[in-house]
Amino acid sequence: MGKVKGLLFVLLTLLFVTSCATDKKANVKEEFDSATIANEGLKFFGEKRGIYIGTAITEGQLNDEKFVEIVKKNCNYITPENEFKWENIHPSRKVYNFKKTDKLVAFAKENNMKIRGHTLVWHSQNPYWIAKPGTTAEELKETMKVHISNVMTYYKGQVNDWDVVNEAIADNGELRESIWQLIIGDEYIEHAFKCAYEADPNAKLYINDYNIEDINPKSNKLYEIVKNLVAKKVPIHGVGFQFHLDGRWEPDYVSIRANFERFKKLGLDIQITELDVRLPKNYSEVDLNRQAKIYGELMKIMLEVKGSAFIMWGMTDKYSWVPSFFSGFGGALIFDEQYNPKPAYMKLKEVLVKSK
Ligand code: XIL
Repeated sequence: MGKVKGLLFVLLTLLFVTSCATDKKANVKEEFDSATIANEGLKFFGEKRGIYIGTAITEGQLNDEKFVEIVKKNCNYITPENEFKWENIHPSRKVYNFKKTDKLVAFAKENNMKIRGHTLVWHSQNPYWIAKPGTTAEELKETMKVHISNVMTYYKGQVNDWDVVNEAIADNGELRESIWQLIIGDEYIEHAFKCAYEADPNAKLYINDYNIEDINPKSNKLYEIVKNLVAKKVPIHGVGFQFHLDGRWEPDYVSIRANFERFKKLGLDIQITELDVRLPKNYSEVDLNRQAKIYGELMKIMLEVKGSAFIMWGMTDKYSWVPSFFSGFGGALIFDEQYNPKPAYMKLKEVLVKSK
C-alpha cells in the first residue's frame, strides 16, 4: 500500500512539474510573436516594461523625414538638444524665443511623446547679459526666478520633466564655480528648484549631471546635496544621469546599480538622460559588440531599479555631438550614419523583449 502511495506521489509531482514547465513555456511563447519582435520599435517594448525610450532631437532634424520616422517608431520621449538652453530661448533680458521649442513641443504632443525641458540653470550656453561685474546675489536670484517662471509658465502642463539644474558638480567632486555659484553661493540650487516648483507644481524636477553614473567623489557630492534638499523638503523629484560614456571599456555595472539604489532610497526617480557610448573612429566589430553590451546592461539595470526613462543623446551617428567634442571618437549611437540599426539597437530590443 505504502509503495503504491509513494508511486502515486511521484507521478503526481512529475505531472505538476511538467505542467508548470509547459505553462511557463506557453507564457513566454505568448508574449510577442516573431513578427512583432521584428517589426516593432523600441518604444513598443518600452511601454510594456514601463520605461520611456527617448532621444535628443533638434528643431532642424524635424525636416529629416527618415530621421523622424526612426524617432516615431522607437521613442515616446524627446529632449530638445539645444533649444531650451538659456542663450536660445532667452537671448536678451526682454526677449524670449519660443519658436523652435514650440515646434518641438507640438511634435511631442502630436506623437504622444513626453518632452524634457533641458535646461534651466547651467554654467554653459548662457547669454552674457545674465551677469556683469558687480551683479549682486539678489539681482542674480531675481534674474533666475524671472527666467524660470516665464519659461515654465509658458509651457505649463506641456513639458513633463525639467532639468532644473544641470552639471552643478565639478569633476573634482566640489561644487562647480559657475556664475550662479560664485555670485549667489551654494544655495542657488535650492533657489532654482523652489522657483521651478512655484512656476509649475505638476512638473517633474530633476538635477542632471555627467560622470555621476557610478559611486565616485562626484556622485558622492551630488548625493550629499540631494539628500540635503530632500531633508529640507525642497521640491526635487529625480536625478538625471547623463551617461556620456567612453565605449573602449565597460563601466562598473555593480557600482552603477548601487549608486542608483541609494538615490532611489531618497524617494527619487532615476533617469538616464543623455546616453551615448563613443568609440574610436575606426572602430571594429569587437568595439560594436562591447558597445551593444553596454547599452543592454544599462537597460537591464534601469528595468531592475524601475527608472522611468532611458534617453539617448540622439539616434543616429549622423547627428551626434561626439565627433566635434571628443576628437578621434564617433559611432556613439544605436543607428549608423546611414540610419542602419547597429548591434546596440538589437541588444536593447532583445533586453526589452526578454526582461519580463
Ligand atoms: C551639447 C549639444 O549636444 C551640442 O549640440 C551643443 O553644442 C553643446 O551641448 N551635457 C548636456 C548637454 O547637458 O546639453 C550637452 O549637449 C552635452 C553634455
